Amino acid sequence: MTLGDVERAAILAALFTYSAGGRLRMPTFLDEIFSPEQIARDDDSCANWGRDWTRDRAPAPSAVVFPKTAEEVQALVRRAAETATALVPSGGRTGLSGGAVAANGEVVVSFDKMNRIVDFDATDRIARCQPGVVTGALQSFAEDRGLMYPVDFASSGSSHIGGNIATNAGGIKVIRYGLTRDWVTGLQVVTGAGELLKCNQGLTKNATGYDLRHLFVGSEGTLGFIVEAEMRLAKAAQPHRVMVLGVPQFPDLLKVLAAFQQEITLSAFEFFSQIALDKVRAHRDLAEPLSTPTNFYALLEFDDSEEDAAMAAFARVMEEGWVTDGVLSQSDAQAASLWQLREGISESIAIYTPYKNDLAVKVSALPEFLTKVTDCVQAAYPDYEVCWYGHIGDGNLHLNILKPAALSIEEFYANCGTISPQIFALVEAAGGSISAEHGVGTLKADYLQFSRSPEQIAVMRGLKSLFDPHGIMNPGKLLV
Ligand code: MLT
Ligand code: ZN
Repeated sequence: MTLGDVERAAILAALFTYSAGGRLRMPTFLDEIFSPEQIARDDDSCANWGRDWTRDRAPAPSAVVFPKTAEEVQALVRRAAETATALVPSGGRTGLSGGAVAANGEVVVSFDKMNRIVDFDATDRIARCQPGVVTGALQSFAEDRGLMYPVDFASSGSSHIGGNIATNAGGIKVIRYGLTRDWVTGLQVVTGAGELLKCNQGLTKNATGYDLRHLFVGSEGTLGFIVEAEMRLAKAAQPHRVMVLGVPQFPDLLKVLAAFQQEITLSAFEFFSQIALDKVRAHRDLAEPLSTPTNFYALLEFDDSEEDAAMAAFARVMEEGWVTDGVLSQSDAQAASLWQLREGISESIAIYTPYKNDLAVKVSALPEFLTKVTDCVQAAYPDYEVCWYGHIGDGNLHLNILKPAALSIEEFYANCGTISPQIFALVEAAGGSISAEHGVGTLKADYLQFSRSPEQIAVMRGLKSLFDPHGIMNPGKLLV
């Protein structure tokens, strides 16, 4: 929404009121809603809960609160609306777009204490979850019942279901199991107007008009806060195999994908470049997967029962010359260690404070797009290392530009920032998205027009003002 001058002035006044000690003042109404152990305002807590994995802005919330019930969230939002107090939702804080950063005296609303799976129905196969349930905990809960929660990514051990829904998290199994959105059968949200909406309530069929649930999926906490989610669970997966293939030419990755998809059902088709492999191997002390290094690698996962068909596809891609070498896991331990080559990349390059980009185009458009983006970065900064990896089976590329040791972070980010518009123009020309799975947050908010038309942005602003009339829900994120 566009804030009116009066609302903007009220929010700024509330945010920048300093106490005698020079610290941002904590809104006093918090004590009326929460007990003392549910409120923190010490520097360590503010630094911890006031940020996600991005490091471009320092956290500076005025307080952190830990609601235990939906009623407390509702009371908080209502009082925040009356006092023009900005609220920032906080889950597992693993986001990479600044969506959970509180840098302007906001009150952080942590869902750490709303972390229970409150109910499970084996007939419906639906787990009713509080927003702070850790993704890995829901996965284990499902496994204990012979089922599966299939949305998976490297940060499953700390990310929260509420955060996953707010960003429509994707990850490594989307090619077979879809996005978080596909597993949400019901949502309870507290809107910015302080209303509690119960959306869909676990139904499979519901033809009663607009499905409000889906408006909140991917809304990054800008319309309302999720206080409960009904998550569908799936039949348990079969034991699986992991294959890593060496693919010298990037366009051949798509031919390899097609060849395997013709024979088997893939549950993952990931890729990484030689640079990415070098970094993760060095960081985790992992063995070279293949005897001959090459430019690109594909990592495939499929059901054990499809091994013969997969080997037939492997023979074909070798014969065609698209693949030069390959390895197939012979045990769960080997499968897990091959997965490390892909899942450990993000962590292994963190020391280079990379300039991260999370881009999507149609799978068929990937080769031309990757070449153009690589050329764009290298024309501007030939000395910068470009580290590519991602979920190629979904058309999702992670572009990471690594900081040379001699450069300051500020200079490096400023340099990379100058080519962002060129990269996003390439995304727009390819009909792609400037954020495939990390979200817009603060990092991409100035570039939304490269993926959304003026008409769409106007509709989004209209929705924002409808659900968040006071502009208090995660301001400065997604829409600016
Ligand atoms: C990944 O695919 O590894 C994650 O999205 C994290 C990242 O992009 O670095
Ligand atoms: Zn990813």
